Amino acid sequence: KVLLSSLTIGLLLLVSACGTSEKTTSGTNEKPASGSGDNSHKKLRIVTDANYAPMESLDGDKIVGFDVDILDAVMKAAGYDYELVNIGWDPIFVEIPGKTADAAISSITINEKRIKTYDFSIPYFESINKILVPNDSPIQSGADLKGKTVAVQNGTTGQEIAEKILGKDPQHIKKFESNVLAIMELTKGGADAVVADNAVVEEYAKNNPNKNLKVITDTSFPSEFYGIMLPKGSKLKANIDNAIKKIIDDGTYTKIYKDNFGTEPNIDVLKK
Ligand code: ARG
Repeated sequence: KVLLSSLTIGLLLLVSACGTSEKTTSGTNEKPASGSGDNSHKKLRIVTDANYAPMESLDGDKIVGFDVDILDAVMKAAGYDYELVNIGWDPIFVEIPGKTADAAISSITINEKRIKTYDFSIPYFESINKILVPNDSPIQSGADLKGKTVAVQNGTTGQEIAEKILGKDPQHIKKFESNVLAIMELTKGGADAVVADNAVVEEYAKNNPNKNLKVITDTSFPSEFYGIMLPKGSKLKANIDNAIKKIIDDGTYTKIYKDNFGTEPNIDVLKK
């Protein structure tokens, strides 16, 4: 009987081990460089948190979204071989300083605090935090969040904005590992609002009409710019910056933007 049950345990372990190994390979996009620039021999490890549609999300095993298309164009222009791996948000801020990843693209806002620890490419996207609330919510501005419960993704600029209004009050600011979980907290009634990047909350409200959510804009929230994050002193920066400039100048950026969002980008704002 003992033998039988240990056999069962062994089998169970085997099955779960298979499950885990499948999980680690999911969400990896392999992309060989098409051009044969002299950089193409080394495959870069680029990391992301693919829980942020329409910027980066999983479609089955594939990572898709605006950032993914931009990354692919930038890597082609720079002549780099790469793989994009979905590791989650917090691990990005471990892998980049630890240099186990070469770069991260994940709607990452370039800000004062981060540039102390990381390098960034030139900006490739303008963004602003917005407030996602139920349709019948009385919240009309950032100031109205006072006294309310706000769900945010941990370590984001959305969290910073919420803390500015509410103070660092763990009772009123609920922090989640992913933005998807923060939105789930809102839809199940555990929070009054979510603060996150405009493209993401707008997409969610639009694609989930049954959830009865609306998006509040507070124009006093600062305008932000996304960059590709790199380890401090990364040798890739110059090539990546040039590649971003190139895809903006040759129309590739505009095409990707239109394909993803259906509108014209304001490229002048990126050139400032
Ligand atoms: N732009 C915000 C920030 O940098 C949120 C980015 C979250 N990105 C993600 N893939 N979850 O803090």
